[in-house]
Amino acid sequence: MTDNPFSLKDKNIVITGASSGIGKQCAITCNKLGANIVLIAREKDKLINTMNLLSGENNLYYAQDITKYEEIDNIIADAVKKTGKIFGFIHSAGMEMTLPLNVLNYDYYNKIYSVNVISAFEISKRIANRKNLSESGGSFVLIASIMSDYGQAGKIGYCSSKGALVSGARAMALELVNKNIRVNCISPAMVQTEMSKKLLESLPVEAQNEILKMHPLGIGHPLDIANGCAFLLSDAAKWITGINLYIDGGYGAK
Ligand SMILES: NC(=O)c1ccc[n+]([C@@H]2O[C@H](COP(=O)([O-])OP(=O)(O)OC[C@H]3O[C@@H](n4cnc5c(N)ncnc54)[C@H](OP(=O)(O)O)[C@@H]3O)[C@@H](O)[C@H]2O)c1
Repeated sequence: MTDNPFSLKDKNIVITGASSGIGKQCAITCNKLGANIVLIAREKDKLINTMNLLSGENNLYYAQDITKYEEIDNIIADAVKKTGKIFGFIHSAGMEMTLPLNVLNYDYYNKIYSVNVISAFEISKRIANRKNLSESGGSFVLIASIMSDYGQAGKIGYCSSKGALVSGARAMALELVNKNIRVNCISPAMVQTEMSKKLLESLPVEAQNEILKMHPLGIGHPLDIANGCAFLLSDAAKWITGINLYIDGGYGAK
């Protein structure tokens, strides 16, 4: 036990997207605060790279496509067997897609919704099961985007997937309160990661400069988001559920 409400000591936290960017930084930050991390993403080498940055003997990794929902059962069961019941969940796995309406079709929607939305709820369902959930309850943080509230041409798939994640998280917060599970979203504006690098590189310089100007505090760092996640997971946020926390360098202030 610790008197520090921000501590995550001995809490077991599942993090999707832990091989890169925001998810990787969340793993490092939560581990520094004392948590044991269960890392999930597809690329094994990158997961091992994240693992090597963590301390303690109770961290685990699983190279897994999270859209294969049924296989998640085995992962959660195995993690519970090896490290104990789970308290936290950060869903940082996600994909971006820039395509106009006339090109989008069922397959594209299915792909982006599977990763960004459905897997978040499918994994939450499994962690919320009493056989997997910590006796003290839980805290889930789903990484959405400011695009859950702001529109952008070419982003119908991405914006709508993040909007669905935020509204589903609110409903889940109300439903899971009886299990003492808090559910919140974080909505970042642009953060320096592989995802934003690819996006910026695909744009002409003028458009890149326009995006930079929309962030009064400049572009974010994964640590800016990871700190918010750690707070929402911790007891310091014990009276917070169902919110969508903007961490956006002032993007939304305009
Ligand atoms: N960067 C930004 O500017 C920004 C802004 C707003 C919101 N976000 C959101 O923040 C989250 C993290 O983004 P990021 O910038 O950190 O992106 P990133 O560096 O590209 O990381 C994305 C992560 O998702 C994982 N992933 C993707 N598809 C997966 C699948 N089917 N199964 C398992 N893992 C999968 C990737 O791992 P593998 O490839 O190893 O599977 C990777 O670890 C995303 O939800 C994104 O939408 C980012």
